[in-house]
Amino acid sequence: MPNKIILDTDPGIDDALAIILAVNSPEIELIGITTTYGNVEIEKAVRNTFRILNFIGRLDVPVYRGAYKPIIEEPHTIDVIHGSDGLGDIDIPAVDMEPAGDAVEFMIKAVNMYPHEITIVSIGPLTNLALAILIDPEFPNKVGKIISMGGAFGLTPYGYGNDTPVAEFNIYSDPEAAKIVYDSGAEVYAIGLDVTNNPKTMVSPEEREKIRVEGGRIGKLFYEMTRSLAKLSHGIHLHDPVALSYAIDREILSFKKYWVTVELVGRYTRGQTILDRREGLPGFLRETPNIYVAYDVDGDAFKKLMWNRVFSR
Ligand code: BDR
Ligand code: CA
Repeated sequence: MPNKIILDTDPGIDDALAIILAVNSPEIELIGITTTYGNVEIEKAVRNTFRILNFIGRLDVPVYRGAYKPIIEEPHTIDVIHGSDGLGDIDIPAVDMEPAGDAVEFMIKAVNMYPHEITIVSIGPLTNLALAILIDPEFPNKVGKIISMGGAFGLTPYGYGNDTPVAEFNIYSDPEAAKIVYDSGAEVYAIGLDVTNNPKTMVSPEEREKIRVEGGRIGKLFYEMTRSLAKLSHGIHLHDPVALSYAIDREILSFKKYWVTVELVGRYTRGQTILDRREGLPGFLRETPNIYVAYDVDGDAFKKLMWNRVFSR
């Protein structure tokens, strides 16, 4: 039986690819897409979700509008990566459609209707999920799994910050929300920069060219969306599709359970995900492991999935 999935997203170029991967994966029953501010403001996130669904002919997937700002601070978008429209300023049409409802209400309703059966894949700031947890105290027990793209855990040479020297963008966007989710008792799988920054999961300039030539309609879309980004960085990160791949194929990522917390106050360290990797010896601040964190990725298997489900369409 396919997994019932809610994809919580802030599209975003790599978010757009994750939406396409989700829609094209028979292992997944995508029961809804919830949107959040993040890479772009909430209205653009909703608009881009409809634009992508329209491009692939799947406007039947219900879309919900979520949070417009973090729990405490103001949002900060990153046009320099995702373009001013959030999708690399590509020329695909907008759709005149309204969301089916409120994202947080939908999440709460869904986990109550299908207790333990829903996986929420969060590929943006964790605000919607934190709000669901704050509103419904039973939410963490009723949700199946939470798969979260976010964090930089220091488990590999790639596990350092991207938005700040130590903090990853989704966590830095709303550190309070991330802490609420990590501490909630829900079964959380965090996929951070430790694996999504691994060159094995990135699209090299040569691969990008091959995708343009052999990657069909979506391949061309990818090439266009990443035109500016390709000039900024040697290789394109696929953070969000890597995270989503765990909902499709359990073999691609390897996890271990650790105690993790989120720094909320440090002037230079706010949003840092602090992971305790100490073993054996006694020491201070020892807490029980609370979330699973990805420490390795099978790059070949992930790329194969992307070619089969996204770049060949
Ligand atoms: C995350 O930040 C966003 O820009 C991407 O869409 C991804 O979710 C990577 O740090
Ligand atoms: Ca994202």
